[in-house]
Amino acid sequence: ASILVVNGPNLDRLGQREPSHYGHSTLAEIESRLRQLAEDLGHQLDSFQSNAEHALIERIHRAADAQIDGLILNPAAFTHSSIALRDAVLASALPMVEVHLSNPFARESFRQVSYFSDIAIGSISGLGALGYECALRALDQRFRSS
Ligand code: DQA
Repeated sequence: ASILVVNGPNLDRLGQREPSHYGHSTLAEIESRLRQLAEDLGHQLDSFQSNAEHALIERIHRAADAQIDGLILNPAAFTHSSIALRDAVLASALPMVEVHLSNPFARESFRQVSYFSDIAIGSISGLGALGYECALRALDQRFRSS
């Protein structure tokens, strides 16, 4: 199957950005480990990161047009604000797993609302980069059982 992992704003700063919340791995390291795992499971993984809402929306539109099979999404701060990005995921009709490196429920109250959790197959928070691997395994299991 083909899977797209999409990361939102400021996640290009992973490795140096607030490591107590987000760990020490860079996004490139996380993506390359994830790509390897996808290959081991027999899937193909593409990745995309942007700081711009419209670019994230357009990438999800393109993924839908390309009829990919699933989406792993860390909307970053757009989690708590972007109805437009939510609508793009809904329009894509792609099965989506929501991932957060940190645990937003253990942080400021404004992080405790997600516009994505109720439209996700599942949401993974607070497990660091392992969360992306869990998301990939969840999609893998779903594809195998369907
Ligand atoms: C995040 C959590 C968000 O609240 C925050 O704005 C981020 C990253 C996470 O991965 O823990 O940028 O999505």
